[in-house]
Amino acid sequence: MQIFGVDIGGSGIKGAPVDLDRGDLAQERHKVLTPHPATPDGVADGVKQVIDHFGWTGPVGLTFPGVVTGGSTVRTAANVDKSWIDTDARALFGERLGGLPVTVVNDADAAGVAEMRFGAGRGRKGTVILLTFGTGIGSAVFVDGVLVPNTELGHLELNGHEAEKRASSKVKEDQGLNWERWSRRVQKYLAHVEMLFSPELFIIGGGVSRKAHKFLPHIKGIKAEIVPAQLQNNAGIVGAAMHAAEQHG
Ligand code: BGC
Repeated sequence: MQIFGVDIGGSGIKGAPVDLDRGDLAQERHKVLTPHPATPDGVADGVKQVIDHFGWTGPVGLTFPGVVTGGSTVRTAANVDKSWIDTDARALFGERLGGLPVTVVNDADAAGVAEMRFGAGRGRKGTVILLTFGTGIGSAVFVDGVLVPNTELGHLELNGHEAEKRASSKVKEDQGLNWERWSRRVQKYLAHVEMLFSPELFIIGGGVSRKAHKFLPHIKGIKAEIVPAQLQNNAGIVGAAMHAAEQHG
């Protein structure tokens, strides 16, 4: 079965039909830049462009880079326009896509669900935490494979700052940090999360997962196993489609 997955991020809106049996993209993904400011209208237009590129007319699963409750309502908007707060995202996208059935889920939760089923978390029991490093830091916490949704660990305080303002990959770029200096910040952050949750496994997702060899060797003193995400930057798209499949049966 195929469902369309769209991953809405701070820098790009990416999507593709997803083969749910294989947990992989069925076609090469298409990406448009996230508009700035990333308002509901502007983002909905971007999503429509991605879907129209494929002429898709079936169910669509979307991620959103903020808290999403009840499968529909946006509650936070750290890295997109604040006018998203309290928006009924499912209604907005459904209407803009001409009535296609849509579902909306937090981006890191989607990536986590995909990694637990098809990637680095397959078959893993106990507490597993996926952290995505991108424009912000997203988190997905699993206990024996079951997701605790909307955990928002990127907003934990670290040395008097929000962690994502110190250790996201956007901060690495903006501040011109080399891998070693950025890794030191990530290490501090992981130590903090480990102190709170004692997970068995950390999965590192987001664009940086492709460059794991550049930063994992610098991260020391963490008891949990640390592995890069296997679906890399497609985990959000795959997880969005998995979420839609669940909702639309
Ligand atoms: C948001 C999270 C999101 C993460 C990654 C954070 O700023 O609050 O909901 O998962 O960024 O996009």
